[in-house]
Amino acid sequence: MYNFTQLNDFPILLAPMVGLSHAALRKTLDKYYPLDSKVLTPTEMLNSRRIPGQVLGQTPQTVLNDFERSLQPQILGNEEKYIRLSVQKLHQWGAKAIDINMGCPVAKALKHNYGVALMGDIQYASEVVKYTTKDSPIPVSVKLRAGTQNDQDYLLKFCDALLNNGASWLCLHPRLAAEKRKGQADWSQIKKLKDTFQVPIIGNGDIQCYQDIIDMKSETNCDAVMIGRALTAKPWLITKYAYENGFPLTPDQYKLIPQNPQDEFHIYCDYLIDFIKNCFLLFEANDALKRIRFFVRVGHVWLNFGHSFVKAVHKYSSEQEMIDFILSKRENTSITLSKRTSLRY
Ligand SMILES: Cc1cc2nc3c(=O)[nH]c(=O)nc-3n(C[C@H](O)[C@H](O)[C@H](O)COP(=O)(O)O)c2cc1C
Repeated sequence: MYNFTQLNDFPILLAPMVGLSHAALRKTLDKYYPLDSKVLTPTEMLNSRRIPGQVLGQTPQTVLNDFERSLQPQILGNEEKYIRLSVQKLHQWGAKAIDINMGCPVAKALKHNYGVALMGDIQYASEVVKYTTKDSPIPVSVKLRAGTQNDQDYLLKFCDALLNNGASWLCLHPRLAAEKRKGQADWSQIKKLKDTFQVPIIGNGDIQCYQDIIDMKSETNCDAVMIGRALTAKPWLITKYAYENGFPLTPDQYKLIPQNPQDEFHIYCDYLIDFIKNCFLLFEANDALKRIRFFVRVGHVWLNFGHSFVKAVHKYSSEQEMIDFILSKRENTSITLSKRTSLRY
């Protein structure tokens, strides 16, 4: 079975996000990664109850690109029968690893006792990991939160149990369940996991700029940094990291490293245009529109005139109208992206 480093040799990862980490975003982001790098790449969260009855590739959440890096679908669930069928099916479909969601705090997940609800019961969560890893031909990781209560000893015991039941690595988004995505992620808990366990630890939470990546890496010593919301606006975080840390880039990729605020905005516009094209290419028009609108709503918070982009993607419904709008703004030197902002999603 492949291990973490065989599947991942570049330390900046896209986070799994409902409505965002689909095939069109994966395709759009791909050109920012060093050409030959291996990168664990998520899907949107997939419900293990539904996967066995679905034709994978024919639901918007399971559309695949011709080329995917180390594809790691994220599953949600707690029932052995469905989880085991899902793992086998996802493996045949192309998954190189599986991630179990133990972080989702929405009411529906709590009601069904999965997502972050699993963090309330060590025994129960361990069983879910055991079902998932049993007979799995591919490695299984868990993405979790700091927990349901502020108790670091519990968190360590919980992680220990996941690893003893077969999880190969962990990703920590260090916020409590009740915080959802408000407040500040407590990176010291990522360090605590890294200091305690021998397996790879992925750190996640509140990366907004290049310096944040450097700080998270140096403060926690994590094996990889996972970025969610900021990759809806700043894909260059990947190319800049590659450049600054000696990963090979092609001449075209050097142009994807901004030298000044104007470059940042140009790259944002080009990224958005590519994203729009890929959404229309891969999804039915209504699904494409839904995804484009959501992507812009999440990412616009870094732009000083971001609301005009939100308005435009709601007003226009054709690819060409949206692209014409973006091109009409692209040379506007008063639009810039802030280094950090308060996050709304
Ligand atoms: C719109 C949205 C949907 C999300 N969906 C998921 C999900 O399905 N599974 C998951 O593990 N985390 C999900 N997350 C959480 C992110 O993976 C990540 O942990 C969180 O956004 C913190 O990282 P960031 O500050 O870099 O965005 C979601 C986040 C957002 C903004």
